[in-house]
Amino acid sequence: MKIDVISQSDKQAVGKEIAMIKVMFVCLGNICRSPMAEMIFREMVRKTGAEKDFYIASSATSTEELGHPIYSPARRELESHGIPCGEKRAVQLKKEDYDRYDFLLGMDSANLSNMERITKHTRSEKMRLLLSFTKEGGSIADPWYYGNFDRTYSDIVKGCRAFLEYLGYDISQLKME
Ligand code: 4NP
Repeated sequence: MKIDVISQSDKQAVGKEIAMIKVMFVCLGNICRSPMAEMIFREMVRKTGAEKDFYIASSATSTEELGHPIYSPARRELESHGIPCGEKRAVQLKKEDYDRYDFLLGMDSANLSNMERITKHTRSEKMRLLLSFTKEGGSIADPWYYGNFDRTYSDIVKGCRAFLEYLGYDISQLKME
């Protein structure tokens, strides 16, 4: 893809081909929402034929779940949509990730505050909420509290669609059940 919107923070990149857009999804534990976003976005990028354009990862702001696999109900939700989970284990967001990634996307406002604390950067065009790309904005439903993984799934799909559109991809043919 050609740099367009992102070029606002990198004027020299305007119109040039870029190798990869690096995206880090972030939540509290990295066992529900952000790994779901990682797997869903990877699937959407694959269906869009844009795999070579992206490096996609996810991480936690807390240490509670480090090393743990994706929470079983989140895994079942992804599998019910035909999305594989791989061997993902929870890792923590690092300060250096701010420079390593082009986008750091939090699931809720507490995540975003914690991301600011860890990276020592304030929220910006590149570090923001996933749903900030949608008209409505807001937070991804937290299944840890609501137990509603299908709502989390549809919130994440909505945010990722809007994000892909923001990046200039045609998602009109992109179908996610
Ligand atoms: P996640 O879900 O942040 O979406 O991975 C949670 C995981 C663990 C906890 C809370 C939310 N916890 O309190 O340990």
